[in-house]
Amino acid sequence: MSANQAPFPATRFRRLRQTDAIRALTRETQLAVDDLIWPVFVREGESIEEPIPSMPGAHRYSINCLVKSAREAAALGIPAICIFPYTDPSLKTQGCELAWDPDNISNRAIRAVKDAVPEIAVMTDIALDPYNINGHDGIVRDGVIVNDETVEALVKMGLAQAEAGADILGPSDMMDGRIGAIRTALEAEGHGNVAIMSYAAKFASAYYGPFRDAVGASGALTGDKNTYQIDPANRQQALRCVERDLSEGADMVMVKPGMPYLDIAREVKDTFGAPTYAYQVSGEYAMIEAAAQQGWIDGDKVMLESLMAFRRAGCDGVLTYFAPRVAQILNG
Ligand code: PBG
Repeated sequence: MSANQAPFPATRFRRLRQTDAIRALTRETQLAVDDLIWPVFVREGESIEEPIPSMPGAHRYSINCLVKSAREAAALGIPAICIFPYTDPSLKTQGCELAWDPDNISNRAIRAVKDAVPEIAVMTDIALDPYNINGHDGIVRDGVIVNDETVEALVKMGLAQAEAGADILGPSDMMDGRIGAIRTALEAEGHGNVAIMSYAAKFASAYYGPFRDAVGASGALTGDKNTYQIDPANRQQALRCVERDLSEGADMVMVKPGMPYLDIAREVKDTFGAPTYAYQVSGEYAMIEAAAQQGWIDGDKVMLESLMAFRRAGCDGVLTYFAPRVAQILNG
């Protein structure tokens, strides 16, 4: 017992656990709808809500259905959605040119959502994988993911998203120098108020599996992403990546995956104080859903507990596929 703690029975901690009211009064951390960013998948077509088998409850939406979902999310009070494209395999190329086409599916989706539901913030993903014939986030030359040439492509991609009306750009590619290059280009092109949320502490994780199915990158991917994403063993390197990205002009930073990396989230928040977000990724979502479907856990309770854990670890918010369901519960 520490010196400033009185002996039992002064320290009956259970006194403050006796009723809902007292528990509410003494709760240290709150989870609110304001903390949620909802990642959504968009595809070509009209009036399509295509279920994603490895992510029960998540869909690939055609643009008109995405707009409807964005409207519902805004009505629930969810402040932001994050758009990921499913690209037809026939449109993928070595040079990934579609990534910065102003009329690609993501950019059309951004425009449609901002036109119809201007109050919801739209976040994007900057990485070449949905458009790359080999499924990598960067351009591949002779089997090598080339950094600087990829950064040039990412800058074009980010500018096209800003032009389409995106509020927050999310570089998830893990190339070196991309935050500074994107920030400089945004300033030069009159997009000084577009925010960047850097996927700064993004680990080379097996938890991304269901997402790669969702965006159609699983079949395409040759090899792994270990030459650019952070080794899961590396805590100090993750902190250095966050420091670097903040110094290059990131406004917000992300830790990804979420629950297995709560130690990193806590340290990022304590060290830098910058707005810090966790991405509860597809594999985390799938594990909770699968166990709930078996009746082995109470899915809703585990969902809420997992999200509270991010807040307790210091995160300002969470990207989660559960966002609409959480919002419904929190709104009563
Ligand atoms: C693509 C990207 C990935 C995720 C977000 N952006 C996959 C990857 O890096 O392979 C994963 C999200 C999730 O698993 O939910 N650059």
